[in-house]
Amino acid sequence: MSPDSTPHVILTGDRTTGPLHLGHYVGSLRSRVELQHAHTQYLLLADSQALTDNAHAPDKVRHNVLEVALDYLAVGIDPNLSTICVQSALPALSELTLLYLNFVSVARLERNPTIKDEIQARGFGRDIPAGFLCYPAAQAADITAFKATLVPIGDDQTPIIEQTNEIVRRLNRQAARPLLAEARALVPRIGRLPGVDGKAKMSKSQGNALPLSASDDEIAAAVKSMYTDPRHLRASDPGQIEGNVVFTYLDAFDPDAEMVADLKAQYQRGGLGDMTLKRRLTEILQAIIAPIRERRARYSGDLGYVWDVLRAGTERGRTVTETTRKVVIEGLGLFRL
Ligand code: TRP
Repeated sequence: MSPDSTPHVILTGDRTTGPLHLGHYVGSLRSRVELQHAHTQYLLLADSQALTDNAHAPDKVRHNVLEVALDYLAVGIDPNLSTICVQSALPALSELTLLYLNFVSVARLERNPTIKDEIQARGFGRDIPAGFLCYPAAQAADITAFKATLVPIGDDQTPIIEQTNEIVRRLNRQAARPLLAEARALVPRIGRLPGVDGKAKMSKSQGNALPLSASDDEIAAAVKSMYTDPRHLRASDPGQIEGNVVFTYLDAFDPDAEMVADLKAQYQRGGLGDMTLKRRLTEILQAIIAPIRERRARYSGDLGYVWDVLRAGTERGRTVTETTRKVVIEGLGLFRL
């Protein structure tokens, strides 16, 4: 499933604010497991970025570095194929951020659609932490420091890649040579997975998420509670597909697309009960989550190994990011002692 045949340097990551869930699995984790075979892939446990709207909860941010690392390993990210780094342990990223902030205006940061939406969603108003407003510059530092050419990212984050490339062009113009390369966003084909309650976004804070450690019973209960079509009272009634969360999930997870198409036709005609449909989805989700949950439990029992993975990955990340730091300092012609 590589985006094209050229090997890329890939960087992506997650804010460490909570364990990952099924929405992350369909949206990004699943494709990272494939991408790691054909490309050089770095994964960033973005604890510094998590702090930009969690300064009141550094314990949570720290604790979730390990939780997210466990999720990575549990879904099949192989530390021999992907490099997992802890953001706050890479000082070159902070230094590049500070330099890049001189190549972007406050007005431009405030115009970034991702930031605008997030400010609104979080109700920050003018009390927005400066670090939050500036996180696109920090993300530009992440992307360029790793020399990433491809950045898998949710569609809500594409303005950040645009802004990264603007900063890159400005720096290159200032240095009068191509110090840094531009990057391309890789947006997943499958749209965002709704929460089990049908709300637009699956999120732990909304209480509508299925964690990657969900038990069979939790999965069954979540599917049972799913919204279908309120007018589909008897199995014989014709039912609606649009807005029917069970079908949205079947589209995302059922490996047999032809069967899903048949089920949809049957549902619309009438004659297919919600129970039958939900049983199928429950079994599919249980089959996906069970091995992830089991691997996660195994790694949780061997945190020493997880620490070793993070230490080794961060060390490799340090080498790459330090190189870029030097390139930028020299390219700008700053004083060096
Ligand atoms: N912003 C990403 C998120 O919300 C996390 C992230 C931090 C990231 N640095 C990155 C993603 C660099 C891609 C590249 O989860």
